Amino acid sequence: MELAAAIRGRRSIRKFKAQDVPKSVITEILEEARWSPSWGNTQPWDLSVLTGKTLAKFKEMNRRQTLAGAAIASDVPMLEKWPDAMKARYGELGKVVLSAQGIKREDKEGRDKYYMNMVVAFDAPCLILACISRDNLIEYQMLDIGLIAQTICLAAHDKGLGTCLLASTARFPAEIRKIAAIPDDKKIVVGIALGYPDPSFPLNNFERNRAKLDEFVHWME
Ligand SMILES: Cc1cc2nc3c(=O)[nH]c(=O)nc-3n(C[C@H](O)[C@H](O)[C@H](O)COP(=O)(O)O)c2cc1C
Repeated sequence: MELAAAIRGRRSIRKFKAQDVPKSVITEILEEARWSPSWGNTQPWDLSVLTGKTLAKFKEMNRRQTLAGAAIASDVPMLEKWPDAMKARYGELGKVVLSAQGIKREDKEGRDKYYMNMVVAFDAPCLILACISRDNLIEYQMLDIGLIAQTICLAAHDKGLGTCLLASTARFPAEIRKIAAIPDDKKIVVGIALGYPDPSFPLNNFERNRAKLDEFVHWME
């Protein structure tokens, strides 16, 4: 696949086929992703690949914690109040995601069902938890995690797989550590759901928006 097509064609996948991803394919993706850039080639990332029984336990834990209304205690603080322009985009995404599935705003049951589906990583057969050493946790190092995460998503897309970055899978690190042997000195930044996309599902097809260049590019000639 051409790089430009891969960049434009990658999108968040929110429904996967009930088909496992062979370990060899996950390995190929990670082999490519390890060539991501990082500050001074420090490569501060650490990845835990959850599949099978471990992933099933993770999904059950994340579902249970969410249903119980457990307080979000992510290793990396997540912004709760957004500046207006970003809040508007976030709100827009929320609307499109629901309307693409035919869920009305007032349909609380439908919304809750979708939300719980997100919490179980859209039932992906694989979840990669991207972590960073606590000692490395300065804001700048987060860039490196973002870079490897994007490379994973692009490499997966290139192989016909789909991904969705999921902050919602990194909310209860203490519980995650009881299931997956992620040591205390690693902070869990984000999860990446990985699997074969279900192309017919509307949520994998809706039209996405991006700001135009003149909204965020400033030419200084
Ligand atoms: C750090 C990060 C966390 C995200 N967390 C979630 C999430 O919890 N749930 C979700 O449905 N999408 C999540 N996303 C996906 C974004 O909603 C998505 O990337 C954005 O809407 C742009 O759409 P696209 O990926 O299809 O281009 C996350 C993306 C990033 C970068």
